[in-house]
Amino acid sequence: MAATGSEQEGTKAYYVSTPIYYVNDAPHLGHAYTTVAGDVLTRWHRQRGEKVWYLTGTDEHGQKIMRTAEANGVSPQEWCDKLVEESWKPLWQHLQIANDDFIRTTEKRHTDRVREFVQDLYDRGEIYQGGYEGPYCVPCEEYKTYGELLDGEGEWEGLKLCPIHKKPVEMLKEENYFFKLSAYGEKLLAHYEAHPEFIQPESARNEVMQFVRQGLEDLSISRSTFDWGVKIPWDDKHVIYVWVDALLNYATAVGYGSDQQKFEETFPADVHLVGKDILRFHAVIWPAMLMANGLPLPKRIAANGWLMVGGEKMSKSNLTGISPHELTDHFGVDAYRWYFLRAIAFGQDGSFSWEDFSARYTSELANDYGNLASRVAAMVGKYFDGALPEATAHGEAEQAIADGLAAAVRSADEKIGEQLDFAGGIAAIFDFIKQVNGYLTEQAPWKVAKDDSAEAQARLATILYTAAESLRACAVLLNAVMPESSAKLWEMLGAEPALGALADQRIADAGEWGRLPAGTTVTKGAALFPRLEENK
Ligand code: MSP
Repeated sequence: MAATGSEQEGTKAYYVSTPIYYVNDAPHLGHAYTTVAGDVLTRWHRQRGEKVWYLTGTDEHGQKIMRTAEANGVSPQEWCDKLVEESWKPLWQHLQIANDDFIRTTEKRHTDRVREFVQDLYDRGEIYQGGYEGPYCVPCEEYKTYGELLDGEGEWEGLKLCPIHKKPVEMLKEENYFFKLSAYGEKLLAHYEAHPEFIQPESARNEVMQFVRQGLEDLSISRSTFDWGVKIPWDDKHVIYVWVDALLNYATAVGYGSDQQKFEETFPADVHLVGKDILRFHAVIWPAMLMANGLPLPKRIAANGWLMVGGEKMSKSNLTGISPHELTDHFGVDAYRWYFLRAIAFGQDGSFSWEDFSARYTSELANDYGNLASRVAAMVGKYFDGALPEATAHGEAEQAIADGLAAAVRSADEKIGEQLDFAGGIAAIFDFIKQVNGYLTEQAPWKVAKDDSAEAQARLATILYTAAESLRACAVLLNAVMPESSAKLWEMLGAEPALGALADQRIADAGEWGRLPAGTTVTKGAALFPRLEENK
């Protein structure tokens, strides 16, 4: 959980959020991808010793949820309660997601504040009444422009389709309330110019800037044709547009209008993680809403790419039956958390395949990393009765490992902690693991062990200490990505009595050579990454 040390009281938390997910169905691999990324970022910053706040939750209003509930013969609230409790929260727990809060947009702590926020905008003259007619995509919960629609084929011949969902749009005509979004184009562009890091990656930033340069239209922020939503405070025939309601979760969950101190210590977000499909809502509408209400803007909107299936964005309808549980049953939770971040450059699209996952698991997790840990523990057991020996003959080869570690720590910290380049950061750590394997192959401790001379025994002790000390650092560096196996390794190395709990180990200290003291009790334990069963 979040660090609450007294030295951190009053400081602003590093605040990370995921999108709040629609609960019309159970979570799939795509949702888990963003949530795991946020969790790794959060845990990394905690291990930097920072105060961190990680928020996730569910988006429960709007037509999409209402229709799903109707189709299932229950009320929308019953539907949401069931899905949240039986599918969403249990999956996050299973995947070891260490969020500090979980916000549901049907909670009173949220709905009351949403009404206040919108009332405030109204009082400031930012909202007016008008009419709108246009094509609407219910799965997106968004009005579309004619230009972006696709022509339907086959069963949808003659209809216009949403470019994301490839399903027919509906024509909507409504009298509703509008937010003067068009007034914010210049201010938004000025903000993007002044803060190049605001939207990431670069391709996403360019796309948003181009979109805003074309000119913004005012945004319809209410609906009157259905009632599953938060009522407009001054006109209860309307409910607030689900996206305005949803975006406000980032403020209401951290004390907006209810706990000023908490709000100041948390808001605005340092990173809003979003899929690229919902980038415009976060990079255009959300900052404009904040500007209109005089609130500070988030530091960064980081768009992740899509997990693809058959060339399409992975969604409930094209999942081909793979659930997160199916993968964790086969590969384990740690490997699952690791794989998608390791295999796909964050920000770009990527596809999943059993073959690629199995191949990487076997070569990097089981062989390179897991075997290294088992071999080192077995040798310390065999040659030194499980007591970690002292490195009395630290020479050039050992210094190369110590230097390699320091470089890996710097690179991983920069990449994971700053650039959200998870694949690059994890690669830096696994390159170091390869370096340690190379060192063991060269030094061949099993050969050195055959020589009883004092000099050879000092070499043997030094080699095994060097390998164990390297593993100490790996446990610290991989704890954010793979908390279970890192805890096992910490235990195998007998590190806790001397160094304290794994979660308290700082990234900044991870590269300091010689932290693991000689004399710890090293035990072999079960394999960190057991061989895969041959059933896939
Ligand atoms: N409820 C809105 C978000 C409101 S945030 C104020 C929504 N929900 S959603 O359930 O559709 O989930 C959207 C997010 O889930 C995406 O933006 C992305 O982060 C994640 N993903 C869903 N499918 C995905 C893939 N196939 N690939 C990667 N991420 C995906 O939109």
